[in-house]
Formats: sequence, structure tokens, C-alpha cells
Amino acid sequence: MSSDLRQPAASVRERAYAPYSKFKVGAAIRGASGAIYTGCNVENAAYPEGTCAEAGAIAAMVAAGETALIEAYVIAGSAVPVPPCGGCRQKLAEFGKGDVPVTLATTAGTEQHTTLAELLPGAFDAAFLEG
Ligand code: THU
Repeated sequence: MSSDLRQPAASVRERAYAPYSKFKVGAAIRGASGAIYTGCNVENAAYPEGTCAEAGAIAAMVAAGETALIEAYVIAGSAVPVPPCGGCRQKLAEFGKGDVPVTLATTAGTEQHTTLAELLPGAFDAAFLEG
């Protein structure tokens, strides 16, 4: 099963700015409206200032006025599908419910299907701020 998020994720991956790691990543997320938002990793000579593909896609969604995502797709040119980093799991969980499907993919065509809850069990969320 290949999501229609694959093509936009693969396309934006080509624009990744990754001169240091040489590891290009693309992400596409579907907002609750059905609109698709994309992002790629953007590295920096000051290494910790780099941003992940998922962060870029989330920023595009929020900038467009949406704050709920219903599907995510992440693609890299690796031998096996690359799991999102811990920070990106938390960022995705801010805007998606636990049952949101997430596909991790390689440019060669391998796909791994998971969910936000599987990626980040026991997530800290806004409910904990209520006391
Ligand atoms: N990276 C992402 O953009 N998303 C992920 O899910 C994993 C890692 C980026 C960060 C950095 O630019 C490069 O991949 C190597 O870590």
C-alpha cells in the first residue's frame, strides 16, 4: 500500500540541504483538511541548528493555518526505512492523535507502516499541563 504522500515526500527530499551529513530526508503530512504539506532537512555549519524534514512539514502546515495532521510519510535514501528522531516524534505527536498512520520509506521502495503511538508511547502532551 503506497500513500499518495510518497510522491510529494520524495520530491521535496531532492531539495534537502544536507551538505554535512549527505543524508537527504523528505516528509509529507496530510492536514485534517486533506491538504498536503512538505518539508526537507535543512542543515547548518553550526550543526545543532539544522532542522529535520518533519519539522519543516509541520511548520508549513501551521503556517497554512492547520493544527491537526492525519497522516505522515517520511522518506530517505537509506538501505532501510529511517525512524524519525525523538524530537520529531514529539513534534508530530503535538499535532496528531496516536492512531495517525506514519509510513517510513526508502527511495528504493521499501515501506514500514507504523503509528504515532507506536513511535512515541507514553507521550507527554498538553493534558499533563492541566495538573
Ligand atoms: N533527519 C531528518 O530530517 N529526519 C529524520 O527523521 C531523521 C534525520 C535528518 C537530520 C540531519 O539533517 C540528517 O537527517 C542526518 O541526521
